[in-house]
Amino acid sequence: MRKPVVLITGAGGEIGHGLIERLAARRERAIVTIDLARLDATMAPNVDREVTGSILDRGLLERVLAEFEVDLIFHLAALLSTRSEFTPVTAHQVNVEGTLTLLEFAQHEGESHGRPVTFVYPSSVAAYGLPDLETKRATAKVKEDEWLQPTTMYGCNKLACELMGRYYARYYKQLAAEPSSGRVDFRAARFPGLISAMTMPSGGTSDYAPEMIHAAARGEPYACFVRPDTRIPFMAMPDGIDALLQLAAARRDTLRRTAYNVGAFSPTADEIRTVVLEAFPRAEITWQTDRKRQGIVDSWPADVDDSAARRDWGFAPRYDFARAFSEYLIPMIRKRYA
Ligand code: SER
Repeated sequence: MRKPVVLITGAGGEIGHGLIERLAARRERAIVTIDLARLDATMAPNVDREVTGSILDRGLLERVLAEFEVDLIFHLAALLSTRSEFTPVTAHQVNVEGTLTLLEFAQHEGESHGRPVTFVYPSSVAAYGLPDLETKRATAKVKEDEWLQPTTMYGCNKLACELMGRYYARYYKQLAAEPSSGRVDFRAARFPGLISAMTMPSGGTSDYAPEMIHAAARGEPYACFVRPDTRIPFMAMPDGIDALLQLAAARRDTLRRTAYNVGAFSPTADEIRTVVLEAFPRAEITWQTDRKRQGIVDSWPADVDDSAARRDWGFAPRYDFARAFSEYLIPMIRKRYA
């Protein structure tokens, strides 16, 4: 008999790094990964099957389907927000068509083994679009159903995928009078900017926070591409991984939504600079606003209301702003560049 496996797409990215380590330590399921590039040498030993290729390659997905019984998917593959603005059509293809292909794949898997496949999806605060700074300042914490008018291609993609996931979870095949309302148990967490001590993001717009910290630790000057007063929510990577694992493990009947806000702390860029300078007093951090990237973060909320996630599946981040720096980022980053 085929054993259930977990499939992770975009496994070589920042979330994949942390997630694979945690899943491998649990030893509950074999781990199958898909990424365009080979995984780095530290990750590969934790993975049972590493598939190199594109999620847009249906043949490749069919081969995975034939070989493994996938009952849990973490669909992480995506182009991030700044990069998506440069190549919007490719962003749509990877972010939306790729997700649709995976949802169909999950539906087939679910049909073939008779129970729903849990499909965990990292959405983003980019799904929101506040019209101007005045509105952003007047909106303390956005709720899931407010201000869903994203201004970026990436935000449109994330919102579209949340809606497609909800469709597959609730409505797919209902018209065909199937007894079940779909074989895909779709669950999305709308993440703030994630900051990892271990990896660097590429192509995101919240990248100024991790870039500032990593540059300081490496002794390199850094020009921050947003204004000092810019405020968006952030989260330390270990809390992001916990959130995905907790959401994946939550009992279906406790989930009242398919997409949940998750937040942790919400500093301004200047507040981040201050704590980085306390830890690395010789750091050189200056300001050089990039108009387009500033426009993107100005449309993202200053903070999110994550009470639904706390209520329905017990989301509770361990790291607030102070602890994220003092107990995770600074010590781990120091170690990394020592
Ligand atoms: N952090 C991501 C980005 O900046 C948003 O999900 O693109």
